Amino acid sequence: MAETTLLVSKIKDGTVIDHITGGHALDVVKILGITGRTNGTVLIAMHVPSKRLGWKDIVKVEGRELEPGEVDKIALLAPHASINIIRNYKVADKKRVKLPSIIKGTVKCGNPACISNSNEPVQSRFYVKSEDPLMIRCHYCGYIMEKQGILKQF
Ligand code: CTP
Ligand code: ZN
Repeated sequence: MAETTLLVSKIKDGTVIDHITGGHALDVVKILGITGRTNGTVLIAMHVPSKRLGWKDIVKVEGRELEPGEVDKIALLAPHASINIIRNYKVADKKRVKLPSIIKGTVKCGNPACISNSNEPVQSRFYVKSEDPLMIRCHYCGYIMEKQGILKQF
């Protein structure tokens, strides 16, 4: 985006999550556990025009980098997001999130009788049936989870 249309300022050190699917900025904020009541500046931009996506959201977090588990969750809701690590105002690293074809451990199966919800040490495992709209199928019981059900867990 050109400097003349920069909506939120650049950050010095931290992470910029860009190209978030429009409408999901607050879900990303929740995944990151941001309450606004702790230290660290957070900038949120919603419904920003994007050449690639039509509309996108952006979340900028000063002073922290993301955990792999957080990136896996973001990939489910915003499969086109990019994670930019900023150091001293420069983009030090840029990665596109990637929705793997098998999702392990990130989502709980919605079927209470599923073996992955029993006391057995079985990690949840889902196959991605469709990316948009998101639809994943449990390896163990065939239960289908969609975006709304997944969001409730985050
Ligand atoms: N950014 C920021 N603070 C910085 C540097 C970059 O907030 N000190 C933000 C930019 O505003 C942008 C994102 O980080 O939203 C990625 O920056 P950059 O790679 O420079 O932008 P683009 O080339 O537009 O990125 P892309 O190719 O991923 O669209
Ligand atoms: Zn299941």
